Amino acid sequence: MLRRKKIILGVSGGIAAIKIPLLLRELKREHAEVRVVMTKAAQEFVTPLSLSTLAQSPVILDIFPQVRDSTLDASTWHIYFSQWADAMVIAPATANTIAKIAHGFSDDALSTLVLAMRAPLILAPSMDEDMYINVATQRNISLLKQRGCFIILPEKGELASGITGIGRLPEIPTIVKFIDKILKNGNQDLRGKKILVTAGPTYEAIDPVRFIGNHSSGKMGFAIANAASLRGATVTLIAGPTHLETPRNVKRIDTVSAKQMFDAVMDISHQQDIIIMSAAVADFRPSSVSSSKIKKEKTGTSFFLELSQTEDILSSIGKKKRKNAIIVGFALESQSVIENARKKMKDKNLDFIVCNNPLENGSGFGYDTNRVTFIDHNGKIEEMPLMEKFDVANEILNRVRSEEHTSELQSRFGISYAVFCLKK
Ligand code: CTP
Repeated sequence: MLRRKKIILGVSGGIAAIKIPLLLRELKREHAEVRVVMTKAAQEFVTPLSLSTLAQSPVILDIFPQVRDSTLDASTWHIYFSQWADAMVIAPATANTIAKIAHGFSDDALSTLVLAMRAPLILAPSMDEDMYINVATQRNISLLKQRGCFIILPEKGELASGITGIGRLPEIPTIVKFIDKILKNGNQDLRGKKILVTAGPTYEAIDPVRFIGNHSSGKMGFAIANAASLRGATVTLIAGPTHLETPRNVKRIDTVSAKQMFDAVMDISHQQDIIIMSAAVADFRPSSVSSSKIKKEKTGTSFFLELSQTEDILSSIGKKKRKNAIIVGFALESQSVIENARKKMKDKNLDFIVCNNPLENGSGFGYDTNRVTFIDHNGKIEEMPLMEKFDVANEILNRVRSEEHTSELQSRFGISYAVFCLKK
């Protein structure tokens, strides 16, 4: 799978840098094209000459590289490489390099290139155990994960200090396999497509301090936005209130209430090729919002709140559906899942629907995993196993691609030809 793939290998200064010539040799054996960027500290552990010899190209050591390479312009090399690469792998990624990337520093060649990079970013943290489990490092890794960077977890074993603990760079075949998997998912099949994704809950105000909300974390929608962007789509993410970081290369519009989300979606839905509504939009809002904090009056009295229905965003888009546009909905159901989901798909005029059950272990709100069932408009049902939300996101996008393919065939050659091609 790595044949002719263009990989930037970023090396930062940890003892595991001594293993990087072996990683580089393996990538070259797999017929990948590799360019190397090193930090100053990395050069204390491995020489640029070793890496340039194995990469068969000069190594970038400085923000203003002094290399005799006709493809490199000293002032724009980072832009050139950010467009050239299919992926960037940083191994080992030290605590300092991880912190710099998490906070947007660009004070050396490696961090400058990362800021400009559009391709998938893969980091292999490797360091002493105490540095790895330090709250600051863990928080930085978590920030990068939320933005859609891929982390190759370090292994437990004997560290350079002689202490046994977590922090070892995984074996070379493990790293190569990981890179291979990421590149397989990021095959740019959505390049040129505009995708709108909604995510998270909505909050409906009761008074200036209270609201009605739900437990949606937004993780599923953010994973879809991230996966679509890695596959080359131009992605707009309309999010309800959530603390999640925006995935790399995704345009985010923040909303709070169902009405705000409705307006934001309606504003741009006509420009989209694909719309995926994963937000848990409130179905009801208080009929009137008090302008001052509601007092509890006498102790022990009840309080009644009148609610009215919110706009059904997905139904509104479904009614205006453009030819060839693909609309995907979610169905959160705790009983009669398939039956209810089928009804939603029909009522809301969807191409397919993703059902999940919030009562199932490992599924639904807050988890990093989900177990979903897909139903398409022909009634085909596919039950998926429990998977990481990022993998579920890619499965959804795979089905969007095949829906698009069918709809293209239908509009060009008619329904029976499309069915014939798909059966083949
Ligand atoms: N949805 C929406 N606007 C709403 C409510 C839901 O766009 N006001 C969308 C959701 O984003 C999801 C789909 O409709 O893609 C189904 O949402 P769900 O909460 O499962 O169902 P509802 O339509 O709200 O119906 P019910 O709550 O009665 O099951």
